Amino acid sequence: MLFPGDASLDRIKSVSPRVVILSGGPNSVHVEGSPRVPDGFFEYCAEHKVPVLGICYGMQMITHLLGGEVKAAVHGGEYGRMPMDIAPASQLFSFLSSTTANVWMSHGDEAVKLPEGFTAVAKSHQGAIVAIENPERRIYGFQFHPEVMHTEHGMEMIKHFLIGIAQTPADWNMGQVLEEQLQKIAALVGPEDHAICALSGGVDSTVAATLVHKVLGDRLHCVFVDNGLLRYNEQQRVMDTFSNHLHLPVTCVDHSKPMLDRLRGLSDPEAKRKAIGAEFIEVFKNFRDELEKNIGKRPTFLVQGTLYPDVIESCPPPGSGQKHSHTIKSHHNVGGLPKDLQFTLIEPFRELFKDEVRAVGRLLGVPEQFIKRHPFPGPGLAVRVLGDVTEANKLDTLREVDEIFINTIREYGLYDEIWQAFAVFLPIKAVGVQGDQRSHAHVVALRAVTSADGMTADWYSFTPAFLRDVSNRICNKVRSVNRVVYDITSKPPGTIEWE
Ligand code: XMP
Repeated sequence: MLFPGDASLDRIKSVSPRVVILSGGPNSVHVEGSPRVPDGFFEYCAEHKVPVLGICYGMQMITHLLGGEVKAAVHGGEYGRMPMDIAPASQLFSFLSSTTANVWMSHGDEAVKLPEGFTAVAKSHQGAIVAIENPERRIYGFQFHPEVMHTEHGMEMIKHFLIGIAQTPADWNMGQVLEEQLQKIAALVGPEDHAICALSGGVDSTVAATLVHKVLGDRLHCVFVDNGLLRYNEQQRVMDTFSNHLHLPVTCVDHSKPMLDRLRGLSDPEAKRKAIGAEFIEVFKNFRDELEKNIGKRPTFLVQGTLYPDVIESCPPPGSGQKHSHTIKSHHNVGGLPKDLQFTLIEPFRELFKDEVRAVGRLLGVPEQFIKRHPFPGPGLAVRVLGDVTEANKLDTLREVDEIFINTIREYGLYDEIWQAFAVFLPIKAVGVQGDQRSHAHVVALRAVTSADGMTADWYSFTPAFLRDVSNRICNKVRSVNRVVYDITSKPPGTIEWE
């Protein structure tokens, strides 16, 4: 169960929780109105022996509310990878033989004085208290993020807390999630109802369509929109895969001209995202009207492969009821939906992460080549051409560079090691020398990251030989580019896409 930060004590009691995890968030305990557990929460947990784990802001809130002290970090906070030292005897880390671990941080405030009865059981190399516990009261806290892939032993820490300390049974698997979703869809969509699904060519929408197709059969109508923002040859590649491997009924709609017309003159990233979202909805509405003419029935459902990170990062989305997170980016299928949307949404993965969707896809028999495809954002190359995407030859140049980069990665056998790799077209030019002549040409950035769910990421460590090779190939083959840079920023503080 996921509750907002202002859930009442009655709401919490109504589900008789076995464990409560207080999540992280962008707030500071010192700011008026920041989320806090309701009065009586800790007393209720003590009385019912409910273990509590605070993560990041959650740990700061525990510290603050139980009489400790939280302050803005003197060194400006900790972001990204940070080594920590673990105290010799602790409940939280009793399963670990090592006394150090690299963990993933994202915080500006930190606990400087702990409440009575609490012990600091880990400290970062900058001296911050990064794990606390009070085994008697069964209250624990991590300042870092154990849930992200780059935190060493992170999953084991969560598992140890849930199973070892809180003694919850591990009786949940992806097969149940799949079954639950199939039943939900069957209950939601009537026997005569039709649905449409926008396929992006990526894992999420493909697995969502395959799942819904299992329930609706030919009452599901898929559309693949060429929005003019696709990668090199993408339309043909994707359509071939849909028909040859997935046997999904897909119509291809070429909407590139209206999309690019709408984007002309826009350079603000959020304005671009919102415009793309609105244009997508137009396409779906038109597709539905056409279908209605052909099948004599109006499709009323829209299937989307929205993931939990899309929801979190474009919060608060319409109807989410969430108030305490910041909008990082408006993901086209969440933040961009107009209020008068005339579809009922089917979003089977709204509470899942990408690695979980991949697991569902495998259960559904989606081919591995599709499951392993790097993610591609809904707004496509528009978020990889910084500024106005329609100027000059920016999109075509980017397509060429991206294709060379991805092919080189494949050639070196690195594709499956990398979560996502792509090129970014920068709105600047640099001076170079090509063929003994001065050139004043474009700069492109390459980005490749490792991640498990896209919520956090680290840059991929290519060998110098790879970087030299790919840079040479790009500058030799793409005439309008004379400089290649490699992005070495993790998420946080950066995001994966540049816009
Ligand atoms: P960021 O850039 O937010 O991206 O770190 C995290 C992951 O999400 C993808 N992404 C999107 N996917 N619609 C999508 O379907 C979007 O608007 C969108 N924006 C980013 C991004 O490629 C990365 O895998």
